[in-house]
Amino acid sequence: MSITTADFRSKITTHILAEKKLQGERITALTAYDYATARLVDEAGVDVILVGDSLAQTMLGYENTLPVTMEEMLHHTRAVRRAVKRALLIVDMPFGSFHVDARQSVANAVRFVKEGGAEAVKIEGGEKRVALIREILDAEIPVCGHIGLTPQSVHKMGGYKVQGKSLPAIEQLKRDAVALDRAGVCLLVLEGIPREAAAIITAEVETPTIGIGAGPECDGQILVFHDLVNLTFTPPAKFVRRYADAGALIGEAVREYCKDVKAGTFPSDSESYHLPKDSQAALAAAAGPLRHAVGKR
Ligand code: KIV
Repeated sequence: MSITTADFRSKITTHILAEKKLQGERITALTAYDYATARLVDEAGVDVILVGDSLAQTMLGYENTLPVTMEEMLHHTRAVRRAVKRALLIVDMPFGSFHVDARQSVANAVRFVKEGGAEAVKIEGGEKRVALIREILDAEIPVCGHIGLTPQSVHKMGGYKVQGKSLPAIEQLKRDAVALDRAGVCLLVLEGIPREAAAIITAEVETPTIGIGAGPECDGQILVFHDLVNLTFTPPAKFVRRYADAGALIGEAVREYCKDVKAGTFPSDSESYHLPKDSQAALAAAAGPLRHAVGKR
């Protein structure tokens, strides 16, 4: 039996994640946005559950992550909190919740801990977010960084494009990563960057790196749950591996249900409640419409 830094059942903390990096033990992470999914993900043993602002698209049908609000994020975080027992629960600070005023940004982060039960908040952006991240850390809230392809910058980036493709761009990513590392983030998400760049950053920083479209050298990996099980209605990105086809499974179940309802084969007699014996006898003795309705169709 291999010795791991945390027993399969023990609660994951930011300290355990740091220890995993030191031990060379890879970290698993997935998004979850609702009670049922979060329970399945947690009970399967995933280390980190992120209530990502990707719920804007996967759960709410928005075109990108920009419109999702604090209230919507809190609503989903509370549902996930009720399900998660073991994983570290992180929530994304949505676009606009940390861009205007530092006091308000810290207050928003506090809401995720106090009202949502989150154990850390995630903030997109590098060097320029350091001052704010320090303030949130001062409020005793662990922060997860996120650099590279940051979806909240979609308009500035001119689309969802792989970042860090030139040497100066890699240098900037490295500066961002080191600045966040020194500020004391608990995790660093590296999204949509060449694996070579992610490998350099992972070797450079003490913070565990979590890749999504950033190659295998990261300290851990995260995927959007809906990508993992094909519930996204769009062709998958290059970095997605689909482990199940829940879209096909659910579609088939619903078609079968409709077929059975239309054919009158659902519900069956065994799926129906029945009168107690004495009421059955009274019904049998009754005359008129009461008696004739039963079993007519
Ligand atoms: O919102 C999200 O799902 C994310 C992950 C892709 C890292 O930020």
